[in-house]
Amino acid sequence: MVKEISATETFSVRQPVLRAGKPIESCHFDGDQLDSTKHFGYFENGNLIGIASMFAIPNTAFDSANQFQLRGMAVLPNHQKKGIGEQLVAYAENDAKKRNADLIWFNAREIAVGFYQKLGYEIFGKPFEIADIGPHYIMFKRF
Ligand SMILES: CC(C)(COP(=O)(O)OP(=O)(O)OC[C@H]1O[C@@H](n2cnc3c(N)ncnc32)[C@H](O)[C@@H]1OP(=O)(O)O)[C@@H](O)C(=O)NCCC(=O)NCCS
Repeated sequence: MVKEISATETFSVRQPVLRAGKPIESCHFDGDQLDSTKHFGYFENGNLIGIASMFAIPNTAFDSANQFQLRGMAVLPNHQKKGIGEQLVAYAENDAKKRNADLIWFNAREIAVGFYQKLGYEIFGKPFEIADIGPHYIMFKRF
């Protein structure tokens, strides 16, 4: 099941999956604590195993009026490829739609582009490098 969680709760998944080998401070994202930011967790037997966060941040590449940015999308390694990521994105999308989102965008790691394409997201522009992490693409979906 998916439910809303705090920014700090996401760290137990952010750290091993998205910031492996890096200090816990690297798990803080700018805007994590804003009222307009929401964090979601997927729980199995009471254990948090997947996370997604939605920030009310627009990208100037798009002209949509009410944009949201998906960030910190991660599922613990032993639980990947079982549909949990898909459920998390659907839940976060629905929540953003309730807040009148007309576009969701994010910086996708190259290895995750296929996952997002299955969920209806498109690549925008050329790949770019994020230091210490690797190649990324901007991806988006309009509503
Ligand atoms: C990317 C990630 C969030 C996907 O979550 P998941 O729970 O493994 O994905 P799901 O099982 O919901 O996958 C949904 C569909 O996408 C496919 N898929 C999953 N990961 C994929 C990938 N990396 N590339 C291509 N397709 C992928 C699945 O096979 C499934 O397809 P199907 O419905 O035809 O079977 C997860 O694998 C992860 O945490 N990866 C490491 C961290 C990461 O890269 N995060 C994204 C940062 S932008």
